[in-house]
Amino acid sequence: MESHPVDTRGRGLRDLRISVTDRCNFRCVYCMPKSVFGAAYRFLDRKELLTFEEIAHIARAFVANGVSKLRITGGEPLVRRQIEHLIASLASIEGVTDLSLTTNGALLTAKRAAALKAAGLTRITVSLDSLDDALFKQINDVKFPVEQVLEGIANAAAVGLGPIKVNMVVKRGMNEHEVVPMAERFRGTPHILRFIEFMDVGTTNGWRLEDVMSASEIINAINAVHPLEPIGANYQSEVAKRWRYRDGAGELGVISSVSQPFCGACTRARLSAEGQVYTCLFAQSGHDFRTLVRDDPARLTAAVARLWRARDDRYSEIRTFETHRLVEFGPKIEMSYIGG
Ligand code: GTP
Ligand code: 5AD
Ligand code: SF4
Ligand code: SF4
Repeated sequence: MESHPVDTRGRGLRDLRISVTDRCNFRCVYCMPKSVFGAAYRFLDRKELLTFEEIAHIARAFVANGVSKLRITGGEPLVRRQIEHLIASLASIEGVTDLSLTTNGALLTAKRAAALKAAGLTRITVSLDSLDDALFKQINDVKFPVEQVLEGIANAAAVGLGPIKVNMVVKRGMNEHEVVPMAERFRGTPHILRFIEFMDVGTTNGWRLEDVMSASEIINAINAVHPLEPIGANYQSEVAKRWRYRDGAGELGVISSVSQPFCGACTRARLSAEGQVYTCLFAQSGHDFRTLVRDDPARLTAAVARLWRARDDRYSEIRTFETHRLVEFGPKIEMSYIGG
């Protein structure tokens, strides 16, 4: 058997993040501002989307090249109808050891959570940026109550989709004062809170370096109240750095893509809902796998290998904390299009 491909920097291919829709039922101000994603915004058309069969077909080609972790993203993946069917088909691929999904939690009713679990989902990650109902409604910009997301987390935990990871994007001036309350809410629970540095993804979120609360600032703020100590990674390419409470109240994570980039261990590929494959979150262009899966599926596995062997991406390392202003990049794909 031919060995799995490595890219030009010696990195293998381990994870595939699959976006199943570019639509979302939230309009988070830092991700899908209404000024851009309003009534006139042209989302992907139904016929432009990959079918579940096509997604599974492409996923199998990635698994044949070394992928064992699959993550379903959006937009908001639970707005795509019958996503459970896709989950069941991905779960049946031999070689897939981890099948997870990142959601805003709004549609995670007890019934939906049970259906996801029954379909073969192994775990789930829920995004939550504030516990303060008024602030949360302001951030999601569709007046969605925080209580319902907390219920979604509880529903997922109740059916065995835990330990649930809770992702909080921290943006200065938006929710930095929620860092400690969020830590306190999830301390002592089986859920793992992860703080994400606000990233310069896309071109519509008005990113400024001044808005980034760095991982070390976040850790210092929590450590001052509840002492922390670092712990090792669960697996080699883990994006979150892990910390645990010294008093035994569990762990948390920080994702420091701006202040401490982790491109050196990046084994991730991304598939968009319309079948473009991106070898970096910040890539400016993708590779058309929709045409391939529709016209010449026998070539998929070789196409993945060729693409990966040519890969050279390390955007976050080039755009370092200090030099980002000096490096001019063109338009990038939006977070809601590629799912983080
Ligand atoms: P686990 O498998 O549970 O460790 O999940 P994960 O951290 O890989 O996935 P998740 O969707 O929870 O990722 C959290 C966030 O980290 C994403 O939404 C992105 O914001 C960021 N992230 C993940 N992968 C990358 C990456 O390759 N590059 C950069 N710059 N950020 C990433
Ligand atoms: N920086 C960091 N994380 C972001 N997300 C969306 N936009 C950004 C950004 N600019 C997060 C979402 C979700 C995940 C998919 O990505 O909140 O947790
Ligand atoms: Fe918010 Fe996630 Fe939807 Fe973006 S994709 S608007 S971050 S819920
Ligand atoms: Fe991987 Fe690109 Fe993120 Fe670096 S910036 S970790 S190469 S996705």
